[in-house]
Amino acid sequence: MKILVIGGGGREHALAWKLSQSPKATQIFVAPGNGGTSLLEKTTNVNIGAEDIDGLLAFAKEEQIDLTVVGPEVALVLGIVDRFMAEGLRIFGPKQEAAQLEGSKDYAKQFMDKYQVPTAQFRTFTSAKDAKNHLGIYGYPMVIKADGLAAGKGVVIAQNEAEALEALDNMMVDRAFGEAGDTIVVEEFLEGIEASVLCFVDGDVIVPMESVQDYKKAYDKDLGPNTGGMGTYSPSLIYTQAIADKVKAEVLDPVAAGFKAENYDFKGILFIGLMIDGRDLRVLEFNCRFGDPETQALMPRLETDLVDIIESILDGNLADVDLQWKEETSICVVLASEGYPGSYEKGRAIAGTDKGGLIFHAGTKATNGDLVTSGGRVMGVIGLGNTIIEARDDVYGRISEVSFEGMQYRNDIGMLIR
Ligand code: AMP
Ligand code: GLY
Repeated sequence: MKILVIGGGGREHALAWKLSQSPKATQIFVAPGNGGTSLLEKTTNVNIGAEDIDGLLAFAKEEQIDLTVVGPEVALVLGIVDRFMAEGLRIFGPKQEAAQLEGSKDYAKQFMDKYQVPTAQFRTFTSAKDAKNHLGIYGYPMVIKADGLAAGKGVVIAQNEAEALEALDNMMVDRAFGEAGDTIVVEEFLEGIEASVLCFVDGDVIVPMESVQDYKKAYDKDLGPNTGGMGTYSPSLIYTQAIADKVKAEVLDPVAAGFKAENYDFKGILFIGLMIDGRDLRVLEFNCRFGDPETQALMPRLETDLVDIIESILDGNLADVDLQWKEETSICVVLASEGYPGSYEKGRAIAGTDKGGLIFHAGTKATNGDLVTSGGRVMGVIGLGNTIIEARDDVYGRISEVSFEGMQYRNDIGMLIR
């Protein structure tokens, strides 16, 4: 079977790595891939961008790809799944209509309202004047979100009126996110602890994966700016069985009913961002794809063949799949470039990645056997252990062998911060 993975980050390296272990996978292509995927067995990088739907479609037809797995959200929101299906190609991900659950915050909130999925109170505005007339409608902090995709930068938590006005001007007047900010959603601010639940979805069958926790801030103790994610570990220490049961009853069941009623025929991944405050549980957001770097911690624990899982979903049989996970705890610690998430240098030589153990590359490039940095998040080093302490010892021991100029990472992944 020939498989095409779309994307070029750590998530896609982890997916390609896991897919390549399937006896069914004979050849894997990653578009555009990275230095790590270029070194993976059975795997070849293809120089096509993850948003070039025409290019990807032409490649899949020419190579007679049997299965395409989509990493990043942009391709889904652009309707890649509809395009591939129209040509009779098998592809894993939601169609454009359902991908709006990630592509439009307003669409997601309307869905939650309609199907009684608990979430923060909200109001949607399409004019800056109207929004400014409703400053602080839910008090402060005031949560202001660009409706469309903004590469994780479209949410502002304004502490006061001045900050709220600045954010509204930035999004709606200066159009910092282009048309993604022409509509905004204002929300009530929620307190609590965040958790993410990634699920395999086949229509109205929603099967959650093992729990995983993401560390979004750049520096130790959750200080510094937000990033795409500086590390993850699985299973999460805070995600108890009691919480899992509550999530099923209050979130997964109503979402499944909504998916059925809307006739999405959703075949892909639903990633649910939650805020948990004591007994109160609310959905912050939906994503329609695997998380990054959640996937890097989950794939090493997944025992079941990923090709089998995806094929079962495409055939409508997810309910029959018995998902098996390793008992071990996994950790992914992201090694980032100096300056990330701000601006950073590229092209720095990387040493020490050849000492064994799992590393999922993100911003790396392999040229003539030399590995250099090519992005903000450079790679995720994976540790495994019978306990979280063993997994931490494993990962930080291995990180000490890797080096590139300006390498920065968090020292407290896998520790409870609050
Ligand atoms: P989102 O992309 O909607 O998940 O928002 C990004 C981040 O903003 C979340 O991970 C939270 O840390 C924060 N956030 C979003 N909505 C709220 C809210 N209503 N109350 C508090 N924090 C929020
Ligand atoms: N780690 C968060 C995300 O993938 O959106």
